[in-house]
Amino acid sequence: MDNTGNALAGRTALITGASRGIGRAMAITFASQGANVVVSARSAETLADVVGEITASGGRALAVPADVMHEDSASTVVDAALAEFGRLDVLVNNAGGNSFMSPLATMRFAGWQKIFALNLDSTVRMIQAALPALVASGNGSIVNVSSVTGLRGSPLMSHYGAAKAAVISLTQSLAIEVAPDGVRVNALVPGWIDTDLTDFLRTDQGIEDTVIGRVPMQRWGTADEIARAALFLVSDASSFMTGQALVVDGGLSAQP
Ligand SMILES: NC(=O)c1ccc[n+]([C@@H]2O[C@H](COP(=O)([O-])OP(=O)(O)OC[C@H]3O[C@@H](n4cnc5c(N)ncnc54)[C@H](OP(=O)(O)O)[C@@H]3O)[C@@H](O)[C@H]2O)c1
Repeated sequence: MDNTGNALAGRTALITGASRGIGRAMAITFASQGANVVVSARSAETLADVVGEITASGGRALAVPADVMHEDSASTVVDAALAEFGRLDVLVNNAGGNSFMSPLATMRFAGWQKIFALNLDSTVRMIQAALPALVASGNGSIVNVSSVTGLRGSPLMSHYGAAKAAVISLTQSLAIEVAPDGVRVNALVPGWIDTDLTDFLRTDQGIEDTVIGRVPMQRWGTADEIARAALFLVSDASSFMTGQALVVDGGLSAQP
């Protein structure tokens, strides 16, 4: 924190999946705390909107359109961040999601692999590309976005749940490996959040009632509520915390 009270002053943060939803909220929150922000996603147009919003508020941001499913995307995005800002202190692996539901017994294996590639393989590639710069930072922080579906059984979403569970395990292993290098690694575990990803659940009142009926706080979380938890994890407020999974779910996972 500098004398302006900004938690991320002088730091550069790279966020994948930052054009919409949770990633966009993180980018705006981090920029409001003084970070230079590198936002990546596939759509150049929506990324330009995010950059416009941040620069209009006096922040600094760079858009790097890229598809995390492509093998060389990670180095492209990290190289662009370093070329623009000269350093990298924070990496948030947020790009991810799920596009279908199916019983495991009849799931097409290609579908299983696609969801692992999007949620897990992309995270591994980004980490490998960014780690040298995060070590050089001297105060590096990685946040991997998981999901409550990765904490327990998720019928019809075994593919997504297994990939998000793997994200937590990866977080724990990596945290131990890189702690001596001054890099912290934590997972952020959202419950049901109101974004484009969950729009399909809000089109049917019955389904929405069932989903939200199981949440003790009886409502959807907001992207801003996840962004504030991410800010905690990437800032010095959590300086002695690594290898942890921070659950932000309105009490969903606390239930028996
Ligand atoms: N919403 C929830 O209830 C919830 C709950 C638990 C966990 N999560 C996790 O939180 C993260 C963000 O979810 P969200 O709800 O904010 O989703 P969202 O609103 O669908 O936004 C997803 C973001 O990821 C980008 N993206 C998608 N596929 C990509 C790809 N192949 N390459 C690069 N960028 C890609 C999208 O931009 P483009 O389409 O332009 O690429 C967008 O910026 C995901 O990892 C999700 O699994 C969400």
